[in-house]
Amino acid sequence: MLLKRTHGAGTLRAEHEGQTVTLSGWVRKRRDQGGVIFIDLWDRSGLVQTVFDSSECPAAHAVADQCRGEFVLAVQGLVRLRPAGTQNDKLDTGAVEVRAISAEILNPSKTPPFQLTDERISEEIRLEHRYIDLRRPQMQANLKLRHQVVKACRDTLDSLGFWEVETPCLIRSTPEGARDYVVPSRLYAGKFYALPQSPQLFKQMLQVSGVERYFQIARCFRDEDARADRQPEFTQIDLEMSFVEQEDVFAVVERVISAMWAAAGVELETPFPRLSHHEALDRFGSDKPDMRFGMELKDLGDIFADSELRVFQNALASGGRIRGIAAPGCAGYSRKQIDDLTQLARRFGAGGLVSILVESSGYRSSIQRYLTQEQVDRICERLSAGPGDLILIVADRASVVSEALNRLRLHLGQALGLIDSTSWKFAWILDFPLFEADDSGALSPSHHPFSHPKNPRDVELLETAPTEVIGSVYDLAVNGVEMGSGSIRVHDPRLQLKILELIGISEEKAWERFGFLLHALSYGAPPHGGIALGVDRIVQMLAGEQTIRDVIAFPKTASGIDLMLDCPSELDAAQLKELHLDVVLPAADDPA
Ligand code: AMO
Repeated sequence: MLLKRTHGAGTLRAEHEGQTVTLSGWVRKRRDQGGVIFIDLWDRSGLVQTVFDSSECPAAHAVADQCRGEFVLAVQGLVRLRPAGTQNDKLDTGAVEVRAISAEILNPSKTPPFQLTDERISEEIRLEHRYIDLRRPQMQANLKLRHQVVKACRDTLDSLGFWEVETPCLIRSTPEGARDYVVPSRLYAGKFYALPQSPQLFKQMLQVSGVERYFQIARCFRDEDARADRQPEFTQIDLEMSFVEQEDVFAVVERVISAMWAAAGVELETPFPRLSHHEALDRFGSDKPDMRFGMELKDLGDIFADSELRVFQNALASGGRIRGIAAPGCAGYSRKQIDDLTQLARRFGAGGLVSILVESSGYRSSIQRYLTQEQVDRICERLSAGPGDLILIVADRASVVSEALNRLRLHLGQALGLIDSTSWKFAWILDFPLFEADDSGALSPSHHPFSHPKNPRDVELLETAPTEVIGSVYDLAVNGVEMGSGSIRVHDPRLQLKILELIGISEEKAWERFGFLLHALSYGAPPHGGIALGVDRIVQMLAGEQTIRDVIAFPKTASGIDLMLDCPSELDAAQLKELHLDVVLPAADDPA
């Protein structure tokens, strides 16, 4: 390489006029006007127009003549103000151009599979050629933002006395909720490592080791069914502290989050509001409420206590709920629009949806003959609704009512433009039940089985009424997204055994699967707690991106495929043999 870069292409301004500079970058656009060739030269600092004039410098012009899109080019030239009328206000460098003195092609490029300036390229093509896609300004901005936000987090935790400690990626399979990715062992036939779903147990053991304040920007792996906001491998800011209560964890996280948002140019107000899990479900139907708008859920059970409508009677008799929301200004909704809302409610488990269109002269409703004006008046009062509004009511099991109304609320909040997309509404969601029970009564942990019951009374309830036990378990929600999740942990091995037993893991099995943890807890484990925040989700929100994939350098598709590497892929016979593996493919008609 003869020419050595002196400036970033995007850094040149009018004040550089008259300087000789050397740039290195990529040919983003080339316009050949006979004796003069214009090349928009791009590097990660931005883009500047370079000019190759055959009458000024025939050798450089000859090089430019050979250039095509995305060739790698070094140019030495003189910075000049652009002639009057040819300035480009849309470009930071738009006041200047670089008139080439000499040029060198550092590497040619095949014709790229898509135009880097094209906004409508399919995601498949972008992901297949991700190394090129990442040259696009939007992707560059996302990579830079991610770096800045993670750096702010690291710096803040460092200033608060946290140590960054790496924990292993080849571990023992200890499923935490999702399925593990497993790695076969070559040296130990028939044995496997697993990739960590999170560093949960290691960070706890580091507290036993006296690290006191640990963090890690940790890669986690979960073999889950595909979902839009999830990736099979993703990154957490994982932290853990000794001798703390949940308020201490909140204070640290609020500092970290504020620093990360500040790195993206946003000032946040702390402390964040707190809502109990119960209150969040009650008011918003969700444990990650979007609090940027109202339309809160209200209970209407008492108003319908004497209703003759079967669905209302059944819901109340079976311990379910009747609840509603009011959509402002939607009384004019058509039958089709109401049907669409009903479909949405059904999709999320509701048997149906009751609608009341409130008008100044009365009301129209899908249950007209079961309603009285007095009931409608009471409902309106409860929901702060009036003429012009649409009331939507669901009667069902409590969880179904919450979910259906939550979805309707979010849908209408969007559709009616009630959400201020520039605001950030954080909330700590506290006091989750420690367990969830399925229809058969079997218990599973609401988060993971290492969380501590909140109060001594909750420890007692483990014996008598485990579904009523409240945990020292918390989530951080922002604008309707779960950003992080954590808890104060169990540090008493006997209590840990008890909790494992309640979720169906016998003492024998517990020692087999979690022996290392139980042993560690027995050797002077301090009280401790922590949290993990989802880095990808944080950066996605800060970047305002629609998908989590746009803030990950090399993501998988929503269905878990790496299109660039074309994997998962098969192994050849020799590799399989070395790993002591036989592949048994499912029969064509086997859904597995
Ligand atoms: P949890 O499983 O709730 O907790 O994860 C913490 C946070 O990680 C993010 N997250 C994900 N992001 C992208 N893709 C995924 N598949 C994905 N799964 C989770 C979310 C989530 O809030 N060990 C515990 C934490 C603790 O108790 O300290 C844990 O992993 O933002």
